[in-house]
Amino acid sequence: MIRHPLKLGMVGGGEGAFIGAVHRMAAALDGDWRLAAGAFSTDAGKNTRTGDLLGLDPARVYATYDDLLAGETALPESERIDAVAIVTPNHLHAPVAIAALNAGFHVFCEKPMAMNSDEARAIAAAARASGKQFALAFTYSGYPLVEEARARVARGDFGAIRLVQVEYIQGWLSRSLDTEGNKQAEWRTDPARAGLGGCLGDIGTHAFHLAELVSGLRVETLSAELATHVPGRRLDDDVSALLRFENGARGTLKATQVAAGEENGLRLRIHGERGGLEWAQMEPNTLTLRWIDRPAEILRAGGPGLGASTTPLLRTPAGHPEGYIEAFANLYRGFAAIVRGDSAQVPGVADGLRTMAFVEAMIANATADTKWTEIVTGERE
Ligand SMILES: NC(=O)c1ccc[n+]([C@@H]2O[C@H](COP(=O)([O-])OP(=O)(O)OC[C@H]3O[C@@H](n4cnc5c(N)ncnc54)[C@H](O)[C@@H]3O)[C@@H](O)[C@H]2O)c1
Repeated sequence: MIRHPLKLGMVGGGEGAFIGAVHRMAAALDGDWRLAAGAFSTDAGKNTRTGDLLGLDPARVYATYDDLLAGETALPESERIDAVAIVTPNHLHAPVAIAALNAGFHVFCEKPMAMNSDEARAIAAAARASGKQFALAFTYSGYPLVEEARARVARGDFGAIRLVQVEYIQGWLSRSLDTEGNKQAEWRTDPARAGLGGCLGDIGTHAFHLAELVSGLRVETLSAELATHVPGRRLDDDVSALLRFENGARGTLKATQVAAGEENGLRLRIHGERGGLEWAQMEPNTLTLRWIDRPAEILRAGGPGLGASTTPLLRTPAGHPEGYIEAFANLYRGFAAIVRGDSAQVPGVADGLRTMAFVEAMIANATADTKWTEIVTGERE
């Protein structure tokens, strides 16, 4: 039976944007999705040029996301988009997601889910009421060796987990790029477009999500410090936290964008009673296992010893590096599966609510005179 690709509309991702192009590559990789429409930019010229370069029908390159939703709704069902990808700055995630869900479209949204927990809960309510799927771009969950790590912790290889250490170290905001015309830096340091957190919302949420996903444990309470190093910057650019997990495990989380010279240093270490693991995003095809009573093991993407839930996430034979686009494509493949009514593990509403509650707990703790603050999601997850 011929399987036709699902049709995607994109909001954001115009000329010069970062993540929109990554979504387009990832969505196309397995042939599950075809980009059919977009409202790529509020700049009319950029919007048109983006649509032209992507070979879209000009009638389906819309001036605004409202026009996109109305225009697509008016098309016959066989032509209309199935889902909307939201790749705009954070302040538009909730309005676009809620409007798209209410109009009957599935949504694949960038992280952080929203500006704050209230908005995240409003998205959750819209998803529930519409019965449509809502996926969230927690990219790092799409790496094959992250899945291998998760599966090994879950089956108890290391015994009860005691320690979880996650760090996300970047250096690109070490200078005041936000006042030098760098668009990505500009909105990320503007509370009106980024939300409650700076570095915290941008990459702290990735770190927190990865720590809970792979450990299989929830953080119950945290103790935080937020700092802003670059003079004049209005949001945090460097955050740290002590974490207490539900089973008594202890953890640390460090996220910074001012570690001068660093690239994209996301690293996770988890240890239990008998051993532990280490995974780092800049060497994503390696997973190191360490044992209390025998030498360390190194697992490689495509190599021997990987579990049944990992191998479907791989595309190339051992030694042919896979990376960021492929991990992202795994999320789009999962999203296609749930849109088609099949089952797949894709980050969604529950992950969004958790990570927004984390952001709020970090800020509450760092600004109050309390040692520990509980993470309260405040919603059925
Ligand atoms: N998952 C990841 O690993 C990852 C990585 C980078 C960025 N992100 C997230 O992706 C989102 C976008 O980040 P970015 O770095 O690509 O930003 P960007 O500034 O490069 O791109 C944003 C795009 O949105 C467009 N836009 C703004 N307002 C719009 C509107 N009203 N209608 C249509 N388009 C509009 C802009 O013109 C631009 O093309 C953010 O939420 C960010 O947190 C996620």
